[in-house]
Amino acid sequence: MEPFVFFGGKGGVGKTTVSSSYAVKCAQAGHETLIVSTDPAHSVSDVFDQPFGDDARPVEGTEHLWAMQIDPDEEVTRHLDEIRQNLSEQVSAAMVGEINRQLEMAHGTPGAYEAALFDRFVDVMRSADRYDRVVFDTSPTGGTLRLLGLPDLLEQWVDRLMQKREVSIDLFEKAAVGNNDPRRVMEGDPVLARLQERKEFFEFAGRTLREDAAFFLVLNPDELSVNETERAIAELDDAELSVRGLVANKLTPEPDPDENGRGARYLRDRIATETERLDRVREEFAPPLVATIETRVSEIKGDLLTDVAAELDIETTVDPPTVTSN
Ligand SMILES: Nc1ncnc2c1ncn2[C@@H]1O[C@H](COP(=O)(O)OP(=O)(O)O)[C@@H](O)[C@H]1O
Ligand SMILES: [Mg+2]
Repeated sequence: MEPFVFFGGKGGVGKTTVSSSYAVKCAQAGHETLIVSTDPAHSVSDVFDQPFGDDARPVEGTEHLWAMQIDPDEEVTRHLDEIRQNLSEQVSAAMVGEINRQLEMAHGTPGAYEAALFDRFVDVMRSADRYDRVVFDTSPTGGTLRLLGLPDLLEQWVDRLMQKREVSIDLFEKAAVGNNDPRRVMEGDPVLARLQERKEFFEFAGRTLREDAAFFLVLNPDELSVNETERAIAELDDAELSVRGLVANKLTPEPDPDENGRGARYLRDRIATETERLDRVREEFAPPLVATIETRVSEIKGDLLTDVAAELDIETTVDPPTVTSN
């Protein structure tokens, strides 16, 4: 299977739990595996009972496994600082104050958050040579997926800017015959260079996600989660990314057959409802259901991760990446 594996789904369904279990499964199969987590609330640090940070660290007690925890807030700040730096090198001092005001406003928007995380994911994919497999415990959603259409847009933009600049440089050259400087100005134009760089970045992202990544969605057996999953499948489909499989988590466990008290009756009723929901998933959704995981009595960590890993019908074999960055 592809080297990059994403687990998506809404908050609380079990992305971190399932992706950690899958990462353990890959590591136990002997693949150098990195799990990348972005959720500060319940993250790989809780699952593995070990602090993780912005760079990959080995997971204690599990050979071949590494983990990294990206703080989205820090990522947004860093991302905006980078934009600020880039722009202030290119515009007049008078503009810098205005740009800073605009960036401060952009900081709070959900788009900034998603864009910054997306940039970071792509960076991780670009520099993942030392791992056989990278598991992401969040998958790109609507906003970020739309960024994948950006290369075409940027291409046209860069082309038009080039033409405009060529015309003005041509006029400039006619006025100053024999001077070759203007041509050099165009070739070294920092704005065009930056646009070109962004275009290549998104091109790499799009190709890597389409050719070297597999997407799984985690869901719970309730109506809300099933509907949300249907939307996510369509969204990914629109971006030409197909969902490889669905993981149903937090299923109600069955009581023993001879139990008939109130608790047992409640469990059976719940199971009947959940079965209906999952039947709909099996019949109407294109991606196959690759695991059904019961709710455990406690949080899933330690040996429980290996138990859950065994329930995932997702292969661990790794095909090397087909896309290279440059
Ligand atoms: N099958 C399960 N049984 C028991 N607890 C679970 C199970 N799956 C997830 N949990 C717990 O539910 C909470 C949310 O799970 P998590 O994996 O953090 O979801 P997400 O990453 O999608 O927000 C965590 O406390 C986790 O330990
Ligand atoms: Mg999580």
